[in-house]
This record gives sequence, structure tokens and C-alpha cells, in this order.
Amino acid sequence: MHFQWYPGHMTKARRMMQENLKLIDLVIELVDARIPLSSRNPDIDELGKNKARLILLNKADLAEESSNDAWVDYFRRQGYSAVKVNSKKGGGIKSIQTVIQEACREKTERDRRRGILNRPVRAMVVGIPNVGKSTFINTLAGKACAKTGNKPGVTKGKQWIRLNKNVELLDTPGILWPKFEDQSVGRKLAFIGSIKDEILQTEELAGELVKVLNAGYPGILEEKYGISGSEDAYVCLQQIAESRHCLVRGNELDTEKAAAILLDDFRDGRLGRITLEKPEA
Ligand code: G4P
Repeated sequence: MHFQWYPGHMTKARRMMQENLKLIDLVIELVDARIPLSSRNPDIDELGKNKARLILLNKADLAEESSNDAWVDYFRRQGYSAVKVNSKKGGGIKSIQTVIQEACREKTERDRRRGILNRPVRAMVVGIPNVGKSTFINTLAGKACAKTGNKPGVTKGKQWIRLNKNVELLDTPGILWPKFEDQSVGRKLAFIGSIKDEILQTEELAGELVKVLNAGYPGILEEKYGISGSEDAYVCLQQIAESRHCLVRGNELDTEKAAAILLDDFRDGRLGRITLEKPEA
């Protein structure tokens, strides 16, 4: 299967991001905790240079806890601020404001030396589609106070969410495009649902996922679906079809349906917490 990226409107998204980046001090980059490297776009390092940087391992609830911690360490060693969060349930969100202040400490110090006091840090959320940008902003804003720039006469400008007297967040996230030459990166993005299923062959993709799970999490499919398992991915899909009573006319096994079930179960965390990329030791 060949994964390709990306629609032309990404050029527009990039331009908008460049414009918005001029307005901010801090880039809050969301990555998917299950594939922290493959869900990044390396261009953000160039686009966001000279800005304070914070990486959030989002959907941490779907990834292994020990791997989440290892990734946080990994990114910190690379000089980023980094924390794990669950934007959907709010886990890790409470500490975000403190983390933002810490990430911008250099800037605040610089301001102070220049006699600039009490200027709020301005931040922008960026990430690839579906990584949880809107969920994160909503969860954070839900805990925050009023939106600014939202009054009559000011609506044309950018909308900022005032988190407290020290931090303002741009309320529209920057969309990054996944970037890869390596097909294994494309595959992982497809596993987590970042590449639309309509353009993918479900069975083939699920077959690939079976192989990855059998290698990294032996026994997980057997336990979840009550199957005997097999080294042959297609046989596994057949067994899942059988155990879930996925049949088409003539009582044939509907492996296409079994494939969709497996992908959904994985994406929604029903197979348990799974990390597909581990940081190098
Ligand atoms: P985007 O703006 O970056 O495109 O992503 P968005 O916030 O729309 O989130 C994409 C999906 O990811 C949503 O699910 C959202 O609920 C889910 N999500 C976001 N953050 C987390 C998280 O930390 N943990 C988990 N488990 N899920 C998260 P959806 O299926 O599109 O909608 P729904 O199921 O929430 O209705």
C-alpha cells in the first residue's frame, strides 16, 4: 500500500501559520503519544525557531505510561519543554499554565531586563489533523476565563483566549501536514486514523496492524478476540471475523468488516494502551 500526502490547501495553511507565528512567543505543538515522531512535522522546527517550544504528548491515555514518560524525557533532552496530556478527559491540563510559564521563562526574564513588565505570553497550538488541537483548546479554555478580542468592533482581529493575566492563546490552531518519505511513517499515521480511510484499503491496513501488534504486543489479539492467532495476518483477520460473527451472504467470512472492527478498536484504545514508537534508549 502506498501512502500519499497531501492536499494543496496545506500551502494556504502554511502561509497562515507563518503569519500567526509572527504574533506569538510560544509554539505549543501537539503530537500523538502513540507515535510521537511520526505525528510531527519537522518543518515546525524551522518555522518556530526563535520561539519558545512546548511539546504536548496528547492522547496519553491511549499510549503506554512508561513510554509516555520516556518520550517526555526524550523531548526534554532535546531542549523542548514537554508534558503528557489527555485533552479529552482533562488529564495533565491543570498544570499546563505553569508549564507554559516555565517554557517562556527566558522571554519573561528578557522582557523584565528591558523594563517590560506584565506583558502576557502569547501562544499558538499547532499539530497535524486529528491530533486533538480543538479538544485541547476547548478543554483549556473551558477552565479559563473570558475570550478577548471578542467584543463588537474587535471581532475582525485575531481571537485570543485569555488563560490568565500572564498567558493568551490564539483560538485558531495551526494545521501541520504530516510529512514523510518513509512509508512506515505513513502506515503509522493511517493506523491512528490520520489518513482518511476512504483512500486506504481497510483490509490491507488492518493486516499491517496485525503484524505490528503480533510483533510488539504478542498475545493481545488472542486475548481481545478469543482467537487462537496466527503468524499469517490474513488468517488472524479471518479468525476475528469468525469470533465477531462477521459474515456476508453465503456464510462467507467478512474480513473487510473484521478489519474495520480491529482498526476501530485500536484507535479507540479498546485493545489497551499501545505505543507504536519508542524513543531510542
Ligand atoms: P484536531 O482539532 O487536531 O483535528 O483534533 P480534534 O480536537 O478534533 O480531536 C480529534 C479526535 O481525537 C476527537 O475524537 C477527540 O475527541 C479525540 N481526542 C482529542 N484528544 C484526546 C485525548 O487526549 N485522548 C483521547 N482518547 N482522544 C482524544 P473524535 O472521534 O473525532 O470525536 P469524539 O469521539 O470525541 O466525539
